[in-house]
Parts: sequence; C-alpha cells; structure tokens
Amino acid sequence: MSAPRAQGAPPAQAGAGEVVPLAQPVLGEAEERAVIEVLRSGQLSLGPRIPAFEERFAAQLGVPYASAVSSGTAALHLALRAIGVGYGDEVVTSPFSFVASANATLYVGARPVFADIDPRTLNLDPAAAAAAITGRTSALLPVHIFGYPADLPAFEAHGLPIVEDACEALGAVHADGTPVGGRGHPAAFGFYANKQLTTGEGGMLTLASAELKARVDSERNQGRAPDMGWLDHDRLGFNYRLTDIQAAIGLCQLDRLDGMLADRARVAGTYREALAGIEGLELPCEDAGGDVRGWFVFVVQLPRGVARDDVMAGLRALGVQSKPYLPAIHLMSFYRERFGHRPGEFPVCEDVAERSLALPFFPAMSEGQVARVAEALARVLDR
Ligand SMILES: Cc1ncc(COP(=O)(O)O)c(C=O)c1O
Repeated sequence: MSAPRAQGAPPAQAGAGEVVPLAQPVLGEAEERAVIEVLRSGQLSLGPRIPAFEERFAAQLGVPYASAVSSGTAALHLALRAIGVGYGDEVVTSPFSFVASANATLYVGARPVFADIDPRTLNLDPAAAAAAITGRTSALLPVHIFGYPADLPAFEAHGLPIVEDACEALGAVHADGTPVGGRGHPAAFGFYANKQLTTGEGGMLTLASAELKARVDSERNQGRAPDMGWLDHDRLGFNYRLTDIQAAIGLCQLDRLDGMLADRARVAGTYREALAGIEGLELPCEDAGGDVRGWFVFVVQLPRGVARDDVMAGLRALGVQSKPYLPAIHLMSFYRERFGHRPGEFPVCEDVAERSLALPFFPAMSEGQVARVAEALARVLDR
C-alpha cells in the first residue's frame, strides 16, 4: 500500500494564514494505480471489482452479504423496498439526521414519523420511538448519528422490521461487540467524500440473506433478472449501480480503513483536550456502556444564547471552516409544508440542532491544526 496523503490538505504545520478545511479524504498512489488499472481494463461498470468490494466489505463487518450501490440514499431506498415498506405505512425515525434518511421513507410512499432524540447520544430515543409506534408502523429506521451506535437492542424488542442508517457509522461497534451494520438488519452505508471510507459517491447495503441480496442487486440494476438477461426486466428497478472505478477506490480504502479510523479517533482525542477549558461548550458524548463510536465528524454544542452565525463568521475570519450540522429535518421547509410540522414538537432535537456546529475533522489533521481551531473558537466565544 502506498503512503496515504490528504488530498489538497494544508501542510501539517498550517500557518495562521491557511484555511483549516472541514474535511479531507485520504487518498494516495494505491487509489491512483487502481483507477488507472480499471481504465486500462476497459470494464468501467458491472465488472469484477464490484463483487470483490462487496465481499471484502461484508467480511469486514462479519455479515453474510453486501450490495454496492451508487449512494447511501440509494441503499436506504432499496433497503426499505426490500423489507416491504410501501404506501400508507409509517416508519419511525429520527428528526436529527441528514435529510436522506427521512426522504427514503417518502420514496416508497410511506410517512416518516419522527420521535425525539436522546440528549446524550443524539440518537433516536427508544422511549420516544416506542410512543410513536402505531398500528400502521411497518418499520423502524434508527440512524447512528455522528457514528455513535443507536440502541438497537431497545428497538429490536418491538419485533418490527428495522433498517439501519449507518451512513455515518463505519467502524462503530455495539456494546455486545457486534459491528454497527452487523446485527442482521439491512444497514445502509455512505461513501461520500467526507465519510470514513470514500469512493467519491457511493454506498453499501449489508444484508442477511441471499434472497434479499438478489432482490437488491436486481433493483439497483433496472430490475434486471439475476441471470442478467438484457431484455428481461422482471421487476421495477433503478440505476443505482456503483462503477468499477469507484469499487476499485473502495478496495484501496478498505486497506486503509483501520488506520484512517484510528487517526480519526486520535484527532477526536486531541480535540477533547484542546476544547476542555471552553466554558459552556458541549463535546460529543464519550463512549459508554461498551458502545464504541466510529468517528465521522466532530460536532460541538455551542453554549445557549450564543449566536451561531456570528461564531461561524468569526471562525471564518480566522481561517477555520465550520458548518451548522445538523438542522432538524421536521423544521425544513419541505417537511413543514408537507406535514405541518412546527417548532416545539421535538424539543431535544430542536435545541441540539440550533446549537450544533461541525468543526474541521479529518484523519490527517495535525495537532497544530486542532490547536488553531480550538484557539479560534475560544477567541470567538470570548468576545
Ligand atoms: C445519516 C445519513 N444518512 C444518509 C446519508 C446519505 O448518503 P449519500 O449522501 O451517500 O446518499 C448520509 C450522507 O451524507 C448521512 O449522513
């Protein structure tokens, strides 16, 4: 494996004038060589790297099957179809997520029913989710937000089908030692450029049975029959294929995965120390009860009463990128208009969403860069 480098990242000793970016993928010569090999092979799609990537990803998580798709959103869509969620159904899910987890429910004609989140983990609160279950609930869709494992055993107790949104959670581990995505439910992973593993765009769906995999593989490829008979599309399908170029990058990224996850955890530890003295600032929750976070982003909660826009502007002036992350889904204009959601419905989520700020976070981030971010934040909050 070639030496990785953070593409476009500032040098390790970033000076005062250099911008500290929010995210940087780790890519290197291995990925470059792999891409060139695919280009030279002439087989850019539906080639051998797709099953190779799927098999290695499944082995990494200890699951029987995985299907590579074009995005995490596509994985969620196909997962909901695979477990039979459809028109008129309700899916209980978190309002504190990237919008795709709720949108996927709408793609299949079902309604996302939100329930509030746990203030520590920021994941769907099991008690609130239980209270939101009705006779029309056909599935639960917990999100492992910011890579922290959702309380799957609590959701499993209801006996309802579950789809896991693990798009942010590669590398996370449940208290019983099971990797997130490895509990037997369809679990969607995303490979956008800021993720723990990237293929530029892309996704993976982990699956427990050969039947589910056959269905997903067909539906990602326009509903083509498993024997790939060109004219026989025996079900409705989509073009959710990953290319061989992306799969080749994914295979190289799997080689690097343990190192990249360890680097992310190291950067998170450095942040904890650097930010510890800032009064009123809340840091991502520590691992507890045996759950292990798969570090994806470093999101802090600003002290109440602080104007986040001003903080972001102050950080920008000091060369530090930041982003409000995440807004509450139910308060987005589309969801308000479509479902009549109003502020006050999910107070924990709304409070967190108003105060959360993602700071620069990537595996190659140096101690100096973390210190610069921490100093800048302390300065801006002190004004
Ligand atoms: C929680 C969550 N769900 C779903 C997605 C969708 O993944 P993608 O952007 O690959 O479609 C993302 C990715 O940003 C995510 O963070």
